[in-house]
Parts: sequence; structure tokens; C-alpha cells
Amino acid sequence: ALTFDDGPSVYTNQLLDILKENDAKATFFVLGKSAKVQKNTVLRTFHEGHQIGNHSWDHKDLKKLSKADIEQQINETNQTIKNITGKVPNVLRPPYGSYNNSVKEIAKMPIILWDLDPLDWKDRDAALVAQRMSEAKPNVIVLAHDIHKSTVEAMPKVISALKKKGYHLVTIDQLFAGKSLINGQIYNKRK
Ligand code: NI
Repeated sequence: ALTFDDGPSVYTNQLLDILKENDAKATFFVLGKSAKVQKNTVLRTFHEGHQIGNHSWDHKDLKKLSKADIEQQINETNQTIKNITGKVPNVLRPPYGSYNNSVKEIAKMPIILWDLDPLDWKDRDAALVAQRMSEAKPNVIVLAHDIHKSTVEAMPKVISALKKKGYHLVTIDQLFAGKSLINGQIYNKRK
């Protein structure tokens, strides 16, 4: 399951084009603040069969916030996404993968982390990112960011490499189909 964090951005539509051409689905963990100003991109993402998850309002480290502020970060983002797509997100990815017991409790959603981090935020090199992402094992969740041009440029190679290995590129819901995920619990792959 490929996942894209921190968008939507100016590169998201290009990524959606690539996913569409390759008949691949993904999950987008969006920021409420960015979703609010790029409603059409969020709506397109949703209509094209991708999953929209909650990545907080503006990328604060939730572990460092009060309970009231954690609640606001999560709930305002849920509400913003619901206003656009009509559907409340059912998965949370806290920024930096950072959480504590308050986050787990307030989330009221499963917390989705990752098994493979290609460090695409650090190395803005499409070939390198493609090589790292192509090493994904079956049933895992892969982290990436659709706010970087190099990451989006890496995707045709990644998709073709993974498809060659016989993988299906799916959303988080599809990855965990038939399993019931527990609110506040952490997941990084299908076991
Ligand atoms: Ni992030």
C-alpha cells in the first residue's frame, strides 16, 4: 500500500494522472489546512478511488500538544475532508509518526504508520527514491510525500517495478480487507 503524506500539493494532480494510467490505488494522508484550499484535488483523489486519511491540520507534533489541541488537529481535519468528499476519514497518520497515549485515545481511528521509508523528503532524487521504494516486501505500507516533485517523478518506475514482482497496489482499506482494525492501535503492515 503506497501512502502519500503532507498534500495535497501542486504535484498531486500529476501523481493522480500517473496512478490512473497504471490502474494503481493509493492512500493520501492529507493536511486539513491544505485540503481546505485545494478542495478540487481532494475531490478528484476521492472520486478516482483512492483513500483519504487524516494527517492533522497543519503538521504539528501531536505528542507535544494538549489534549484539547490534539482533538482540534484531528477533528477539524476530519470535518474539512467530510465537507469535501462527504466521507469522514477512517485512518490517522500522526505527523512524524509521533504519538502518545493521548493521541491513541483521541484518534478514535486506527493509527497507520509504515514499514518502508524511502527518505524521499531528504533525498530529492527520483532514481534513488524509485530504487528504495521498489524494494517493498509484500503486505507492507510504504511512506512517501506528494509535496516533492522528485517523489512524483519516481512513481512510474516504482509502480512498474512493483507490478513486475506481481504486487497489487492498493489502499489501506484494501490492504486490511477482512480484518477489523482497532481504534488507537498502530499498524505498519498486514500481518
Ligand atoms: Ni507528514
